[in-house]
Amino acid sequence: MEASAGTLFCLLLILLSTPGALGSNPGLVARITDKGLEYVAKEGAMVLQRKLRGISLPDFTGDFKIRHLGRVHYEFHSLDISSCELLGSALMPLPGQGLRLTLYDSFIGAHGKWKVRKSFLKLDGSFDVGVKDITISVDLLLGSEPSGRPTVTVSSCSSHISDVEVDISGDLGWLLNLFHSQIESRFQEALESKICEKIQNSVTSDLQPYLQTLPVTTEIDNLTSIDYSLMEAPRVTDHVLDVMFKGEIFNHDHRSPVTFVAPAMSLPEEHSRMVYFAISDYVFNTASLVYQEAGYLNFSITDDMVPPDSPIRLTTKSFRVFVPRLAKLYPNMNLELQGAVVPAPFLNFSPGNLSLAPNMEIDAFVLLPSSAREPVFRLGVTTNVSAVLTFNTTKITGFLKPGKVQVELKESKVGVFNVELLEALINFHILNTLYPKINDKLAKGLPLPLLKHIRLYDLVLQIHKDFLFLGSNIQYTKV
Ligand SMILES: *[C@@H]1O[C@H](CO)[C@@H](O)[C@H](O)[C@H]1NC(C)=O
Ligand SMILES: *[C@@H]1O[C@H](CO)[C@@H](O)[C@H](O)[C@H]1NC(C)=O
Ligand SMILES: *[C@@H]1O[C@H](CO)[C@@H](O)[C@H](O)[C@H]1NC(C)=O
Ligand SMILES: *[C@@H]1O[C@H](CO)[C@@H](O)[C@H](O)[C@H]1NC(C)=O
Ligand SMILES: *[C@@H]1O[C@H](CO)[C@@H](O)[C@H](O)[C@H]1NC(C)=O
Repeated sequence: MEASAGTLFCLLLILLSTPGALGSNPGLVARITDKGLEYVAKEGAMVLQRKLRGISLPDFTGDFKIRHLGRVHYEFHSLDISSCELLGSALMPLPGQGLRLTLYDSFIGAHGKWKVRKSFLKLDGSFDVGVKDITISVDLLLGSEPSGRPTVTVSSCSSHISDVEVDISGDLGWLLNLFHSQIESRFQEALESKICEKIQNSVTSDLQPYLQTLPVTTEIDNLTSIDYSLMEAPRVTDHVLDVMFKGEIFNHDHRSPVTFVAPAMSLPEEHSRMVYFAISDYVFNTASLVYQEAGYLNFSITDDMVPPDSPIRLTTKSFRVFVPRLAKLYPNMNLELQGAVVPAPFLNFSPGNLSLAPNMEIDAFVLLPSSAREPVFRLGVTTNVSAVLTFNTTKITGFLKPGKVQVELKESKVGVFNVELLEALINFHILNTLYPKINDKLAKGLPLPLLKHIRLYDLVLQIHKDFLFLGSNIQYTKV
């Protein structure tokens, strides 16, 4: 059962995917460095250590010839692995192919019973086997399914045992000990083939399902999901394993094609952390587009939302002094300001800095007694916002720090007027409703493509021209 076996290479936080459209870039790349591979190898060795303890060795029987006595029949049975220690492990990239897991400096101890029979003579006893200097080498091929899920298969496995020692006790144990080399080579053969069988089995039934815990589509909220399908099989180079994810946020009720492409990212050569995530602006901008199109960034301000101490209210009366025509045309009526952020704001990445410069359009309507609405003027609002990112163990979170707003009159059916008084009102509203709403979303965070039970720690962040570069160590936390 142990999904943890997967841990094996676990970290492969990663994994693979379907071939994307030609020439399309991933929105997110996860890179596992040599340090990460080292961690995965250790975790993998621990899992295999448990697995190999579960190896069942077959009983075996044989004959030997003793002078004057003739043929003696022996049987070894009830073999039980009592200990297995895989002390040395390494996971090495096989560029262009996959990964090679090497386990060395290993020891297996087994315990069992023996029986010897020669016509009327029956003897039995127990024995211990110590298997030293086991070297196991497993080549893993990484791929991706059409669904964008990672796959792993064993392309070759070999195990080599250089030393088996059998210690037989019981009456006549000394006799069997005379044949130890024959017995030892039987053990060696049986174990060598069982080890690879067990590993093969563990890769198929534990590691692959574990890799497939990678969320190919993760729901972010009731509007959006993120597509973390692999765009191609993981790429293995000399020192790193890169996994290319689509990294696109979409409206899960109706996904529409994105009209811009992800930037090509050139990842810095950093190796101090186990994994790095290069998260391009594409991820954020596809999110912005979906929320904007869904009207999430639309807002409306009515008089009942205006704070009591405001020098202006959303009534035509209150506008009398500075927009006399409005009060004259629509005496004693209320106004509604309807705002939208247009176009969808894109996040600007510059080294060390994240910012946005959203534009808003605000249409002012008079609410007529007939309950019809009459457009009277339109405002343009610009502002500069900086984005601050924060992290927790599995997500990128953040918040926006609002800047000053600048309001201008774009169109008016009621004459030109000074919009300064409206600036405070609009500012108050977006600070108190729009930003908190967006910050709430940002606090919920963007889930990273992580395998189950993986946590991040020791995070470091760099902001590059088109992408965030997040370095982290990882921990497999299954309790
Ligand atoms: C989505 O969730 C928000 C609150 O998180 C709620 O206001 C909104 O009505 C929900 N939308 C749908 C379609 O369920
Ligand atoms: C958001 O506001 C804009 C401008 O007023 C409008 O065109 C758009 O239809 C609104 N979107 C939604 C989903 O209401
Ligand atoms: C980030 O941008 C803000 C506003 O544009 C600026 O004040 C700040 O100095 C910038 N920080 C860095 C590290 O460039
Ligand atoms: C936003 O920043 C740009 C460039 O730094 C500047 O030209 C513009 O005036 C700023 N807008 C506001 C509303 O501060
Ligand atoms: C990380 O953030 C998510 C979303 O806000 C939250 O559910 C989770 O508890 C946070 N984890 C930690 C360790 O703070």
